[in-house]
Amino acid sequence: MSEPVEWGGATLRSIRDLTPDIRLFEIEPEGEFVHPTPGSHINVAVLIDGRADVRSYSIVGPCTDGFYQIAVKLLGDTRGGSAYMWSLAPGAKLTVSTPGNHFELSRGRPEYLLLAGGIGITPIYTMALALAQAGANVRLLYACRRRQDFAFLDDLQERLGPRLQVFVDEEGQRADLDAEIARLAPGGELYVCGPIGMLEAAKRAWHASGRPVDQLRFETFGNSGRYPSEAFRVKIPRLHMEIEVPQNKTLLDALEEAGVGMISDCRRGECGLCALPILETDGIVDHRDVFFSDEEKAANVKLCTCVSRVAGGSITIDTADRAA
Ligand code: FES
Repeated sequence: MSEPVEWGGATLRSIRDLTPDIRLFEIEPEGEFVHPTPGSHINVAVLIDGRADVRSYSIVGPCTDGFYQIAVKLLGDTRGGSAYMWSLAPGAKLTVSTPGNHFELSRGRPEYLLLAGGIGITPIYTMALALAQAGANVRLLYACRRRQDFAFLDDLQERLGPRLQVFVDEEGQRADLDAEIARLAPGGELYVCGPIGMLEAAKRAWHASGRPVDQLRFETFGNSGRYPSEAFRVKIPRLHMEIEVPQNKTLLDALEEAGVGMISDCRRGECGLCALPILETDGIVDHRDVFFSDEEKAANVKLCTCVSRVAGGSITIDTADRAA
């Protein structure tokens, strides 16, 4: 399974709060129910400031009853998809895709190490259930900022017992990734979903261990920068343009709306297709992608426009041969 292709109508059957800011949505498709594999997501058509847009959400749990379950964290610092989802009541009509999967779980590995941060637990939870049910050798490291932020904790404790370790950031608890990776059986795999800082730390520790790159798998969510999202100005001398990127809009969306011909695919900082050259900036480029290396980000030569932003200033970029 890869990219979802079929769109259709659906009904929001129920909602349930898992934490103060994570809500579970149970969605019944009108057409065929396609059984999701662990790591799958569905796309949901949303309205943001009256404008049609699409958001991807990881599917939660095995979904054995013919409904898709997704969990959405309400964030003020986002493009507005979560606010739209939280405005919905049971019975609401939706347009959703069939499941796709860019974060597939391999089978038959000698050991699995799962690492989740915050709302990144959604695909990892589903993987943990599937692996535990299959009798696989699995451990889960689950970190959140506060104790009340943990979702699915009772269920995970019941299924995994001592194979689950939790870490509360504000209590100073941190996973020792070097040690955890060193404990992993040869041929074991690491699956990570969490904020960009966690992903980068996991990538550094994995590469330092010398293990094969393809045995580290990760998924991102593109709103987890080092700085809060704020509006910023973008100058494009080649096109004689200057535009404002609002706080709740990506640079890529703003460029497209201004008529700049852009190329993109994942729109989540993974493929690099939307990257543009940086000519200069008087702010800080908040690189939120997992496409560029640490060295490339430090050099500030390009940025992934679908997720990265500027804090405390403006930026001047080039669009190469893309015309307005
Ligand atoms: S579209 Fe893939 S990194 Fe931006």
